Amino acid sequence: MAAALGRWPLGLALCCLLGASLAVDRGNFKTCEQSGFCRRQRRIQPGNSPYRALLESLELGPDVARMRLVNEATQVPLLLELWGLSGNVTRLRIQELNPLQPRYQVPDVLLGEPPAERLEVTGRDEGTLELALGPGGHRLLVTERPFRLDLLRHRELLCSVNARGLLVFEHQRRRRDSLADKVSSVWDKIKSLFRRDPPKDPPGEEGAAQEGPEDGAGSTQSEKPAEPPAEPEEEPGAWEETFKTHTDSKPYGPTSVGLDFSLPGFEHVYGIPEHAESLRLRPTEGGDPYRLYNLDVFQYEVFTPMALYGSVPLLLAHRPRLSLGLFWLNAAETWVDIGSNTAGKTLFGKLLDYMQGGGETPQTEVRWMSESGVIDVFLLLGPGPADVTAQYGRLTGTQALPPLFSLGYHQSRWNYQDEADVEAVERGFEEHELPLDVIWLDIEHADGKRYFTWDPSKFPNPRGMLERLAARKRRMVSIVDPHIKVDGGYRVHSELRARGLYVKTKDGNDYEGWCWPGSSAYPDFTNPEMREWWANMFAYDQYEGSTEALFTWNDMNEPSVFSGPEVTMHKDARHFGGWEHRELHNIYGLYVHKATAEGQIRRSGGRLRPFVLSRAFFAGSQRYGAVWTGDNTADWEHLRISIPMCLSFGLAGLAFCGADVGGFFQNPGPELQVRWYQAGAFQPFFRARTWTRRGASPWLLSPEHLAMVRAALRRRYALLPVWYTAFYRCHRQGIPVMRPLWMEFPDDPQTFAMDDQYLIDRVLLVHPVTEPDALGVNVYLPGEGEVWYNDETHEQHRAPQTLYVPVTLSTIPVFQRGGTVIPRQDRPRRSTEAMRNDPFTLYVALSPQGTAQGDLYLDDGVSFDYATKNAFLHRHFSFANGTLTSSSADPRGSMSSPAWLERVVILGVGRPDSALLTTHDGSQTPLQFQHDPARSVLTLRRPGVPIGADWSISLR
Ligand SMILES: *[C@@H]1O[C@H](CO)[C@@H](O)[C@H](O)[C@H]1NC(C)=O
Ligand SMILES: *[C@@H]1O[C@H](CO)[C@@H](O)[C@H](O)[C@H]1NC(C)=O
Repeated sequence: MAAALGRWPLGLALCCLLGASLAVDRGNFKTCEQSGFCRRQRRIQPGNSPYRALLESLELGPDVARMRLVNEATQVPLLLELWGLSGNVTRLRIQELNPLQPRYQVPDVLLGEPPAERLEVTGRDEGTLELALGPGGHRLLVTERPFRLDLLRHRELLCSVNARGLLVFEHQRRRRDSLADKVSSVWDKIKSLFRRDPPKDPPGEEGAAQEGPEDGAGSTQSEKPAEPPAEPEEEPGAWEETFKTHTDSKPYGPTSVGLDFSLPGFEHVYGIPEHAESLRLRPTEGGDPYRLYNLDVFQYEVFTPMALYGSVPLLLAHRPRLSLGLFWLNAAETWVDIGSNTAGKTLFGKLLDYMQGGGETPQTEVRWMSESGVIDVFLLLGPGPADVTAQYGRLTGTQALPPLFSLGYHQSRWNYQDEADVEAVERGFEEHELPLDVIWLDIEHADGKRYFTWDPSKFPNPRGMLERLAARKRRMVSIVDPHIKVDGGYRVHSELRARGLYVKTKDGNDYEGWCWPGSSAYPDFTNPEMREWWANMFAYDQYEGSTEALFTWNDMNEPSVFSGPEVTMHKDARHFGGWEHRELHNIYGLYVHKATAEGQIRRSGGRLRPFVLSRAFFAGSQRYGAVWTGDNTADWEHLRISIPMCLSFGLAGLAFCGADVGGFFQNPGPELQVRWYQAGAFQPFFRARTWTRRGASPWLLSPEHLAMVRAALRRRYALLPVWYTAFYRCHRQGIPVMRPLWMEFPDDPQTFAMDDQYLIDRVLLVHPVTEPDALGVNVYLPGEGEVWYNDETHEQHRAPQTLYVPVTLSTIPVFQRGGTVIPRQDRPRRSTEAMRNDPFTLYVALSPQGTAQGDLYLDDGVSFDYATKNAFLHRHFSFANGTLTSSSADPRGSMSSPAWLERVVILGVGRPDSALLTTHDGSQTPLQFQHDPARSVLTLRRPGVPIGADWSISLR
């Protein structure tokens, strides 16, 4: 839940929320102009880079090239390192050659040191150096002055670095002590008296940069020859910054970094979640840059570049025949500017030779600015969109395979009152034949918001409650937040305090802030010992009342501090190793998620998969579970924005994404509620969450509306085999489950900026209805020469075309791609576990060539045996020449499953004379069938073969 509520009594909060105007309080959050380093960097004008590459300093290791860069204004040297990593990834890192203090390099995100290819110098002339990076045909041109990098594949320019000269590396410096300060300012005044030019405006960075060579290299050096030149004048705020009532002591002064990337030929860029924004990022000229700084934003608005709860500094660029990714590995506050330009303006010299046709190629400019750390960038070179997501997956890990139950439907309300309330809700789902997998408990379930405990009067017998749920094949999630009530009688608090595991203030005391329980302290999850301690708390004997059926929700882990600057932690707070919070803010939430997931794995002796939902996230969070779009609002805009938000999460590796169905704040009307269930049923993480009783109990809707909600839930459950198989593919290959159309149709520009429709895996196209009173929607069906089949009516449509689909309130426009096979389990059940051994139906949708392919992944749904013991089935289905064949897609997998094939539905086929089933022992059986000539749909009855067996069915 969002912070601002914490300051109000609930009644007051509700009265204001129900009022007409709902809007974020923008004044709580910084603009770029209010964030010192963003303001400093944005003032720098392109075209004046003071950086020079010292080409003669090149040292070529077996797989890394190192050379020095120097800022000619300050003479401060930097170290540039370049790698050509295997699989078409180039890494570049820039840091200070001789820093006063080590600078933070983000740990625990990369899976390991990525393997590198051999580098070779392939060309050298005055002012440039050419390196070949491994076998992909990639080359890097290093230009000496001003420093710039151009990355090419053969003769094609993919990306230029510092082409606009916006490389910024604020080197560490000593703060002049106050006496020296005064002396030097007196000297400055005296000097200025003898100057002829009029005094300048208060010195900004442009001024400083211009002054550098003249004052710095000249006069100052002659006074103090052994010392580096004097630092340029600093603007107020460089060593201390105040926002509202909070002052950030900045003991290390300004240490920001920044760099620009030019992407010739690209007009479409995506990624850098989390923003409530269209999928395609918009140019930021004239407004604020996109901000990455994990924040608890109360009542966020849509279509703004403001920061939200999570950050993944991965940007993707796409054009026909080429996709690229830029992964900026930095966990400090970061801003990203997006601009458009024409390539002709920034290319020069012999690089023009590489231009195809020269002239006015459209180009996107991307500029990253971070408050501290080093510059560490991975250029993911595709060439296809799925190559980029796979490259990112190899670096940071892929989505953890979720336990099957977590793909079912979740119900959350703030708050279920007590055990009787939980039971009544569950009974409601049962009575109204609504499938349900998980009931969620928010903060009030704990004893005074002391997490890992239960309110003794409302939840006196949690174990009994969990066992009752488990007996009905359902589960529960309880919230465990990372703010700990400061209370000497609370074991978690007293142990963490005694062990010194809390985050510290700049003065070394335990950092305390205001949050849900009142005065709270914050465990230092960046400390491995803290994570270890936390993970052990999930043992069944430590978290009393917990069972195998209880899973976890980490909320408020940005971290949210109601009393802190921008509702979060002070940047000068101290973490393990002495690091300031400033350095690692964006990764704090990942560590909470990680420690919790590890705790769940550990409590089962390493056997069972965890399920943990986190609000805050960073690059790599996909390894630990699910994320969602936070505290949204029950309005149509928030329903619509859930699609591009989850698509953007998926591109950045976070495949297990959802938005609160119905909207968290305010009450949805029945139409919006129905539409949101329909949309949510086709998003990866499917949870209704609300604080109203009506939102949490669909049976309070009219019978017609309730029937529509039931139908949406059942469609979700019928398609679970598709979801699970897609998650398995995502886990193995890093390709998102919910995908933008351009991932599958990369050469069709019509798909490049779509926010209202998407694909699930490569098989289903979904266009949820997200407008009130809709009578129809326009659905774009992509693919030259392809066909699509309406998932409900089985009607066939040629592509490409924009199809007007008339809708009623019960319609969810979904299309199966011709040429695919999808498995379904069509029997309605109460939960995923109840469906485990249910028979399957295959829907075979033929391409115009009369072929189709598809697959099905199955395992026990809960354990790691699929990975450790190959206990899984992965089947491949193929239809060609009138024969449908089932074979193993992965011979490593073996598992016995009682599930069998109940039916095969073939779309787009004429009536055969016979259908003959051949099983793997060679025996043949004719099958009964039915053919609908109007729709060309053939239904084969009861093949009856085990789902894990080899078989074929021939139509004659
Ligand atoms: C690397 O790029 C080349 C094109 O230059 C492509 O053929 C190859 O498939 C890519 N490899 C990977 C692992 O993405
Ligand atoms: C289908 O038949 C054609 C021509 O008879 C043959 O070339 C092709 O290999 C067959 N395909 C399969 C999958 O059996």
